[in-house]
Parts: sequence; structure tokens; C-alpha cells
Amino acid sequence: MADTSMQEQESDRPPGLTARPNRPWRVAVLANIKDENAPRPPGVPPDAYADFDHIETVETIRAAIETDGHKTEFIIADENLPYTLREFNPDICFNIAEGLGGDAREAQVPALLEMLKIPYTGSRVLTNAIALDKTLTKRIWRDRDLPVAPFQEFSNGDENLRHNLRFPLFVKPAREGTGMGVDMKARVENPAELRERIKYIIETYKQPALVESYLSGREFTVGQIGQPKAKLFSRHPEWYGNDGFHRFPILEVYTDKSVTPGIYSHAAKAQQIGKEGAPDYLCPADIEPTLAKKLHYLALRAHNILNAQDVSRVDIRLDDKGEPYLMEINPLPGLTPGYSDLCLQIAAEGIAYEDLILEILYLAAGRWGLLEPRSTFSTPKKKR
Ligand SMILES: Nc1ncnc2c1ncn2[C@@H]1O[C@H](COP(=O)(O)OP(=O)(O)OP(=O)(O)O)[C@@H](O)[C@H]1O
Ligand SMILES: [Mg+2]
Repeated sequence: MADTSMQEQESDRPPGLTARPNRPWRVAVLANIKDENAPRPPGVPPDAYADFDHIETVETIRAAIETDGHKTEFIIADENLPYTLREFNPDICFNIAEGLGGDAREAQVPALLEMLKIPYTGSRVLTNAIALDKTLTKRIWRDRDLPVAPFQEFSNGDENLRHNLRFPLFVKPAREGTGMGVDMKARVENPAELRERIKYIIETYKQPALVESYLSGREFTVGQIGQPKAKLFSRHPEWYGNDGFHRFPILEVYTDKSVTPGIYSHAAKAQQIGKEGAPDYLCPADIEPTLAKKLHYLALRAHNILNAQDVSRVDIRLDDKGEPYLMEINPLPGLTPGYSDLCLQIAAEGIAYEDLILEILYLAAGRWGLLEPRSTFSTPKKKR
């Protein structure tokens, strides 16, 4: 995109009204891309790579960033990333990379960028590493008195089941996303089913199995954007409350009539919205204001306790008494327009996709010192 567009926009603006970059940036969009035709090495689970992005999503993010005059490039987040980054020499990276294997894959790209001293969007290394590990995340939340269902991690499968865990139970991989390893057999009714499922998860996904009490109530996902200084760097300071956060409308995922009734599984997530077998997505969720307030409060506490940055989506489910429990946090929420939960939430509020993407970029740029905060801009003095 030509440099002129930003200069034109710049001159159109009165000074001091908004934080603006003083020149267009070079923005690298970093992602891992789905390749449905790629041969699958033996032993790789059928739903592996489900959280990788389609190239169309990357192109939409690039287009959104370019609407504000920046130059973008897509860089695939593979082993060549250190070299391709050097070539493109970005001012900042827009990171949606899920990483390639290991016990903290979502932290790989942030770790590399920290080493190369390149600013990037969203949460940093430790948050991405911990959030991928659902057991560790729950231990931290539990320690800070946030409600989480009773749980136990199984590393080799023959550990004794703790007494506070009563059937039905729910078994999932400890370190996956996008419903990977979650299907109708995830809910187990007795010790035999439990042992079989734990064994399946450990062997198939090569990682521990997380066993939790089954939460039988409604399911919500709660998105948020912000940081204490959001108003100083935002293109939309009016979005943010005094704490610097904007809470998106709560999305209820109603799965009872989906391909996996009662479970927001990998298969359910893969259904085309509105088609038979897909969950119903209800946004804003039809819930009491007190429950909505509680869900927003819990989601933001969950975000801040993990030191998440700029944006996240927190998944919450109610138990049989209607009490909410945190399931997990997504510091790299999906950003596919018209499909990802967070995109459904912004659409319900009438927020344009471009605004969400640019907001994530500018909040990060503010944290990394690429933007001068609005308040320090010189504003014309009032005449006495
Ligand atoms: N303890 C539980 N009780 C009942 N259902 C559960 C429980 N834990 C998970 N689920 C179901 O499994 C789904 C996937 O679980 P979870 O959100 O932890 O995994 P995920 O694959 O990381 O999700 P995402 O796609 O948001 O990254 C939930 O949306 C929910 O429907
Ligand atoms: Mg989830």
C-alpha cells in the first residue's frame, strides 16, 4: 500500500485527537496454514492442525491492516521464520501462529520474536505457554479463587482417580484447541470408559489427559479487548471503560441439536454456521444481567491473572445449579470473519472486522512503544 494514504489521512486529522503512527509500518502477519491435502505422517491424529488458519483468513487480516495505510506481508510460521523475518524486517508482527508441536507450541513464535526484539500483537510467551496447558491454567485460577470444575491430570493413565471427582466426567487433551480430541466419547460414565478414554488421549495426542467434572449447563464464550492504557492508543477510545477494557457481547453456544449434542466438539466447530448439525450461536446471549455481569467479571479476572494482553476469549460453562465455571482461555482467539466465535461477537455489536484487527494492532503497538500516547500530543491551547 502506498505511503501516501497514511500521509493524506494524517493531514486530515486535527492534532491530538488520536494516536497515529508517524509513518506506515511494515507489518508481518504470522500464521500456520491448513493444508488439507498434505500427507499426514503416521500416528498423527485425524483432527491435528485443526487450529491452523486458512490462507483466506490471513488475507483478510492483511487487507484490514492495509486499510490504515500499512504495508503487510504474510510469513509462514515454520522453521524458516527467523530468516524470512530478517528479510522482511517488520516494524511489528500480527501474530496468529499456533506453533509446530512441543509442549508450548503457541508460545514458540512469541519466544522467537522476543529473542529478535520484534514487537508483536497479543499475549507474550508465558501467557501463551500456560494458556495452552489447560491443567496449569486451572491450577493458577483455582489458586486465585476463580471457579473451576474439580479436575485431575493423567500423565500415564493408571493414576488413582481422586475422590472429589464423580461421574459423569469429561476427558480432553490437556494441551489442544479447536475441540481437538473432544467428541461424544469425551463424556464418560464409569471407570471403564474413563480408563479407555484417558488411554486414547495419551496415546493419540501424545500428551496428558485432563479429567474434569462434567458441567451439564449452558455454554458461553466471553471475548474482551483492552489494557489499562487502551484509551491512549486506541482508534476507538469510546469503546473502553475506565479500566481500559471493552467487553464484547456474550455468545451462547447451543449444541443440543448439533452433530455432538451437548458438546462443542471439533466436529461441531467444523460445521457451517446455519446448516443442519451446526450449533446455534446466540449473541448476545439471552441471560439475566446479573449472570452476564458475572461472566464478564470472571472472564476479565481470568485474562488478567494470566497476564494476557490486548485480546482473549474465555470459555465458561454452567453446572447443574446454574453456577459458572471457567473452562479455558484463548489468548490467540480465531479471527476468521463470519466463523470464529470472537468475530460473531463483534458482528453482534456492529463492530467492523477491520476495526477489531486494527485495534489489536494499535493496542500492541502502544505497549511496545511504537505509538505515542494520545495524551502527550500537543493540543492547541485554549484562549483565555
Ligand atoms: N468439564 C466439562 N464439562 C462439560 N463439557 C466440557 C467440559 N470441558 C470441555 N467441555 C466441552 O468441550 C468443548 C471443548 O473444550 P475446551 O473449550 O476446553 O477446548 P478447546 O478445544 O481448547 O476449545 P477452543 O476451540 O475454544 O480452543 C467445550 O466447548 C465444551 O463444550
Ligand atoms: Mg474452548
